[in-house]
Amino acid sequence: MRLLAVADLHYSLPQFDWVLEIAADFDVVVLAGDLLELASIVDRRAQAVVVRKYFERLRAVTRLLICSGNHDLDAPHESGEKVAKWLAASPDDGIITDGESIELDGVLITVCPWWDGPITRAGIAVQLAEAAKAERRLWIWIHHAPPDKSPTSWGGARHFGDAELVQWIMQYKPDIVLSGHVHQSPFVKDGSWVDRIGNTWVFNAGQQFGAPPTHIIIDTDEGEALWFSSAGNQFIRLRDPLERPVAKLEAIPDWLKAADPPPLPEQA
Ligand SMILES: [Fe+2]
Repeated sequence: MRLLAVADLHYSLPQFDWVLEIAADFDVVVLAGDLLELASIVDRRAQAVVVRKYFERLRAVTRLLICSGNHDLDAPHESGEKVAKWLAASPDDGIITDGESIELDGVLITVCPWWDGPITRAGIAVQLAEAAKAERRLWIWIHHAPPDKSPTSWGGARHFGDAELVQWIMQYKPDIVLSGHVHQSPFVKDGSWVDRIGNTWVFNAGQQFGAPPTHIIIDTDEGEALWFSSAGNQFIRLRDPLERPVAKLEAIPDWLKAADPPPLPEQA
């Protein structure tokens, strides 16, 4: 399975355009939260309408999986906690979103909501316990906040990760967790786009302005994950231990070339 993961597009339409342009080259496209931008001058209801149009167009060319981030919460749940109701506005749209899992060719992918309080958090615990019963070759989680005390949640002065997620990772040992949220992690000293907790690979692509967005390409058959950013490109092999410094990606691998890949972003 070939997967493209981005997060934190924050209503950047050039970034949505870029994702749309290359989406058909991937079996799965993951938008790991913060699709909308709270501080935008554009009303978030209007943002949601525009972004849902992108979802439709992406859905027409690939499998689309989307989790909510803290910028995406638009409505109170009956519990009083905020949820991203607009994400699930059309249950039959074929998009896998908060609270759902899908199995694709032996790869189970579970999409977790942003939790705004103990009820949603408890819902994730139930969701993971249920999903854990399914047969799978690989298990991938999509969860906007990265794990706490990880280079993927390091902001330069402190961590901004989710301690609960660390417990869930240790309990269920997923193979891969795709997150976002802490924009600067890959770009600050002691931060990174990749980490390992036990045998679980954890990723946070980070955030940059303009197109292309920072992004991660994973091919589960090739066993590689590549990170692309304006500050440089790196890669890891999923079957090898994590080594730091993480290896630079000097050239596009042959397996990706065959898929008519996006051009390498210019080095800063
Ligand atoms: Fe964000």
